[in-house]
Amino acid sequence: MQKPIYLDYNATTPTDPRVVAAMLPYFTDHFGNPANTLNAYGWSAENAVKKAAEQVAHLIGCKPAELTWNAGATEGNNSVIFGLIRKLKKENQKEPIHLITSNAEHWSVLNSFKAAEEFENIETTYIPTNADGIVTAPELKKHVRPNTRLVSLIWVNNEIGSINPVEELAAFCQAQKIYFHTDATQAVGKIAVNLQNSNIHFLTFSAHKFYGPKGVGILYMRGHNPAVEIEPFILGGGQQNGRRSGTLNVPAIVGAGFAASICEKEMLEDSRRTSELCAKLFSKLGEKIPTLQLNGPPLNHRSPINLSLIMPVSIDLVLPALAGLAFSQGSACHTGETSSSHVLAAIGRTVSEAQRTIRLSLGRWTTPSEIDEAVRLIFNAFQPFLTATAPIKKNDEPPYQNQKN
Ligand SMILES: Cc1ncc(COP(=O)(O)O)c(C=O)c1O
Repeated sequence: MQKPIYLDYNATTPTDPRVVAAMLPYFTDHFGNPANTLNAYGWSAENAVKKAAEQVAHLIGCKPAELTWNAGATEGNNSVIFGLIRKLKKENQKEPIHLITSNAEHWSVLNSFKAAEEFENIETTYIPTNADGIVTAPELKKHVRPNTRLVSLIWVNNEIGSINPVEELAAFCQAQKIYFHTDATQAVGKIAVNLQNSNIHFLTFSAHKFYGPKGVGILYMRGHNPAVEIEPFILGGGQQNGRRSGTLNVPAIVGAGFAASICEKEMLEDSRRTSELCAKLFSKLGEKIPTLQLNGPPLNHRSPINLSLIMPVSIDLVLPALAGLAFSQGSACHTGETSSSHVLAAIGRTVSEAQRTIRLSLGRWTTPSEIDEAVRLIFNAFQPFLTATAPIKKNDEPPYQNQKN
């Protein structure tokens, strides 16, 4: 059976074969524990981890010592939020703490905020985005309180490809002496991330979104002007200077480093190519499906790999006809109930619009002929409905209430 065309690079990327080749010796020949520097096996593993940190640091313009390895962006986001809460509480048990995020974040941030409210007695605010899914500095300003200690805002949205003005938001926070964290999982390796003269305090991301392996992530904590620290979130044997305990996953770390070094060389060209292919896909589909709408910002102001499109009818109605494509939906059906995307709700999309939303995301190996084939498959799937359905009137639909915030 022919494999479906993979248009789900926002969900995960295939590991680049060059990365796999770089990782392999670390399963078999150099399998030592980098924490055990009493033998040559440990030294070679330790050196490999050091090199990987240099490669990642080079890609994002920071120092290797500012990086901590972990199991992925979910862990990174949890550890920034709870590690900072622990640190602030240790400094002053009585002072109330207020944290800010937006209602268009990844669940690893949103659910950490929920748990912080429930178990840590933390005050939280979920600020609204604009219609493109962007949080602006003036909007952030409105929600800051005297006890706001952390602002956590996504850099590039994983569902709708919007790009927050993180440097402007971080500069505002720095001036207010508020910690600023950004979930840069969909940014690193896709758009320029340079922390050299940045006001960002914490940045989290994951190797499997930039052609590295799954299960390895990176937390950046600024080491200067001011240096920031949090209480460790994962406790144990004190590896990584006590910042995150546990034996390092050396092959995955080697893969993350190598993937970063490839991105450094190829990212510009990759992004130029995927942007062009996104534009081609959007315009060809638009020619055939006149009601087609884009969620999030216009093409040249969004993630270079993401298209979030509102189709004429619910995606569920055409799933069998789209079997040749791997993609994501704006809503999902769990045990008979449809849950719509909170991100689409945040930008004011209705339940019906969420049900009609398809996310197509492109990457390093997407080809022009795959785009042609995707257009053909999508058009064929929706064609029966194009003549049969009356044009959809936007105002007929009830606004979707975002249950989560
Ligand atoms: C924006 C964003 N943050 C966090 C995550 C979680 O990353 P991980 O799979 O490494 O835990 C993802 C993955 O889907 C993501 O897209």
